[in-house]
Amino acid sequence: MKNIKAIIFDAYGTLFDVNSAAEKCKNKIGEKWEPFADYWRTTQLEYTWLRSLMGRHEDFWEITEQSLDKSMKVFKIDISMRDKLLDLYKVLSTFPEVEETLKKLKEKKYKLAILSNGTPSLLKQLVSNNNLESIFDDVLSIEEVKIYKPHPDVYNIPIKKYQIEKNQFVYLSSNTWDVSAAGNFGFNAIWVNRNKNIFDNLDYRPITEINILSDLNNLL
Ligand code: LAC
Repeated sequence: MKNIKAIIFDAYGTLFDVNSAAEKCKNKIGEKWEPFADYWRTTQLEYTWLRSLMGRHEDFWEITEQSLDKSMKVFKIDISMRDKLLDLYKVLSTFPEVEETLKKLKEKKYKLAILSNGTPSLLKQLVSNNNLESIFDDVLSIEEVKIYKPHPDVYNIPIKKYQIEKNQFVYLSSNTWDVSAAGNFGFNAIWVNRNKNIFDNLDYRPITEINILSDLNNLL
């Protein structure tokens, strides 16, 4: 990869561990905490895609609540857990290697930004809770275009911001469909495959695949 100027990160699942909210409640939820967390995440993403297709936008926090309500019913989780789960979702932890990796990339003078479905205020809170304010040049939200990933208008947000060529960006996501969309858009898209998953068949193969974000330091 030559002439890379900016590195764009997906937020949920890539920098921040989306399962950590349910995991912190595992004493109360019991063994089903993980399938419940996976179902909540899948439903949340489905709602982003469905709302975009229906032309009925609601912000990511509304969708997080709406998908939680369905998931709690499906998994018969006591309603008293609702506020706790939502509070924890606002303060998700990063994966362990994230802070050090980002600091090293920052020293190499790349522009670093988040591009996420999250609302500006949710993302701001996540970044500040994890002490990452000094790292990112920008925290970009789909609320600028009011349609969710994988719509190309979303991936165009950093182009408008930085006025550089698509092939001067590296885009990182743990979400296979997000990697496909960013790659089809024209970014150099890298898949963060922490759990040895299988990639999608959506017209794009990632330029490379890493198991942990810190592997980026050998590539860039
Ligand atoms: C995001 C979701 C897709 O942060 O993980 O945009």
